[in-house]
Amino acid sequence: MSRKHCKAAVMLAAVLLMSSCSEQGVTVIDHDPDKIIVLQPEGDIRREDEPVVEAVRLPEITSAQPAAIPESAATTTVIAPSEPPDIASELSLRLDGADESGYPMLDLSGTVTKKYTYEYQVTNGDISILGPNLVYVGEGFDFDFIYPGEHENARVRWSLSGNCGTIDQKGVFTAKAKGTCTVTATDITNGTSAALRLHCITCDDDVDFIPLVNNIPIANKSFPLPKDYDPGLDPNARAAFLQMQADAKAQGLNIFPISAYRSYTYQQQVYAGWVRMYGSDADLISARPGHSEHQLGLAIDVNSAEYAFANTAEGKWLKAHCSDYGFILRYPSHAAREYTGYAYEPWHIRYVGRSVAKSVEASGKTLEECLNIDSYYR
Ligand code: DAL
Ligand code: ZN
Repeated sequence: MSRKHCKAAVMLAAVLLMSSCSEQGVTVIDHDPDKIIVLQPEGDIRREDEPVVEAVRLPEITSAQPAAIPESAATTTVIAPSEPPDIASELSLRLDGADESGYPMLDLSGTVTKKYTYEYQVTNGDISILGPNLVYVGEGFDFDFIYPGEHENARVRWSLSGNCGTIDQKGVFTAKAKGTCTVTATDITNGTSAALRLHCITCDDDVDFIPLVNNIPIANKSFPLPKDYDPGLDPNARAAFLQMQADAKAQGLNIFPISAYRSYTYQQQVYAGWVRMYGSDADLISARPGHSEHQLGLAIDVNSAEYAFANTAEGKWLKAHCSDYGFILRYPSHAAREYTGYAYEPWHIRYVGRSVAKSVEASGKTLEECLNIDSYYR
């Protein structure tokens, strides 16, 4: 451990102690006044001069409304967070080396612009429209009307209220102007219908809604969050994490959060730190403010932001078992960045609920591929 990191470890321990007996938002000034460690209200810590997040306690749940989650956590048992780990070894960030396949661990070359045609599904019974509630002006997608086991667009009549787009009777929607509109699909055989409120935006817009895809809250390069969306860590994600942590501990493994909820403002700082280090290549590592799942309150970084974590006992256990608790490895490989927009992050887990996590895992695909969405900045 370097001298700088050793000093930071001592300071971090002090901050953790102070945080238990003082108001939120503690600022500690190191010997060098240019180097400031800030404990954010949500518990994240970083030095101003490097984009490293350190060991944190999971914050207590506040009264803030969490993002909607399609299903409850696998457990409702809330277990107190474990003692803060020895954070000394977590204070370095290593993004070098190679993975098992020999892939360079920080290859920032290339672009990530896989594009999809969105497909919406309308299911019978509890008739509903599935798919994104957001589309960029000038783009469009092809609705699909699906009964369990059959595809039969002829059974549905499509209609649209509002002036922001057009839809034809094959279910092809095109966004023409900013605004909101409602797409309705009516089953002409029995009159049942499903409606979806759709937001047509441009890349310059500040959004005022939570992007949903198949009712799952999404934040990626294509799906932005409102600047003031400030839900804190989702209670279901927290409960599921603590259960997972307890079960891992029973097997002698230590899994702990190093970064959980991050506000828009904090993500601004994190992203700026990476830009200072890597310039525009930062986009392959860090989300721009308003595009991070950490702002959704549904993502947790664990143990250490090092590729070597994947080869530790904890890293392997996490990969094998996190879906049991409703989490997925959100950025599962370097190859997956074609879809996710981000390089491999074996430490970043995203809560989606157990059934979604299980189906994503079984597919062997990314969340973007499973939801048929893209992730790139317009
Ligand atoms: N590192 C991930 C992509 C984030 O910044 O949210
Ligand atoms: Zn993360």
